[in-house]
Amino acid sequence: ASSQDVARALLGWYDVHARDLPWRARPGCAAPDPYRVWLSEVMLQQTTVAAVKSYFAEFVRRWPSVEALAAADEGEVMAAWAGLGYYARARNLLACAKEVAGRGGTFPADELELRALPGLGAYTAAAVAAIAFGQRAVVVDANVERVVSRLFAVAAPLPGARVAIRRHTDTITPSERAGDFAQAMMDLGATICTPRAPRCLLCPLSASCLARLHAEPEQFPVKAPK
Ligand code: ADE
Repeated sequence: ASSQDVARALLGWYDVHARDLPWRARPGCAAPDPYRVWLSEVMLQQTTVAAVKSYFAEFVRRWPSVEALAAADEGEVMAAWAGLGYYARARNLLACAKEVAGRGGTFPADELELRALPGLGAYTAAAVAAIAFGQRAVVVDANVERVVSRLFAVAAPLPGARVAIRRHTDTITPSERAGDFAQAMMDLGATICTPRAPRCLLCPLSASCLARLHAEPEQFPVKAPK
């Protein structure tokens, strides 16, 4: 199957099976709010979707815009963050909010400009560029890493395999609906292409999946021996 077939099959699956998460645009609504996308992606950097939901709801209730967050009391933000851990993230969150508020409250749409903001690493900058702005960015998190390492049966062990995984992800990322594509990969990894006992019979990519064809999907991603 071609790269286009992979993207088409995955997006078709996502149209039916996308998880209903509070930071996503509702079907039929306009593009998602960059503030909500950025806030959720920073929260999701080291925390699970299930744990993030209630914190996200509380943050957007108290600080509904990036300007509101920029004007917030640091102690209150730190207290609202308590429980999410990695407090450097909360300090960077506030620093980033102030910087964006200083630019008139508009997040840059460009991946490299996003990367320059406090707290935005390669993953977060790519995720915000794709999800909030529809830019064709290559978004690789742990879920995507697992899906792609299986799809292409990447034989090299992590962490060295990350170069090949990024290249493969680049080849299958479409220029249209790049944000949906990234989130579809994440949802597939979270619900179907799971670390243990992947549900290949339900997978929209099973016909193209080299790990399924040649070996056991669970063998991927290959880890370096300890
Ligand atoms: N994990 C990190 N970002 C995510 C997103 N936008 N949707 C689902 N899972 C995620």
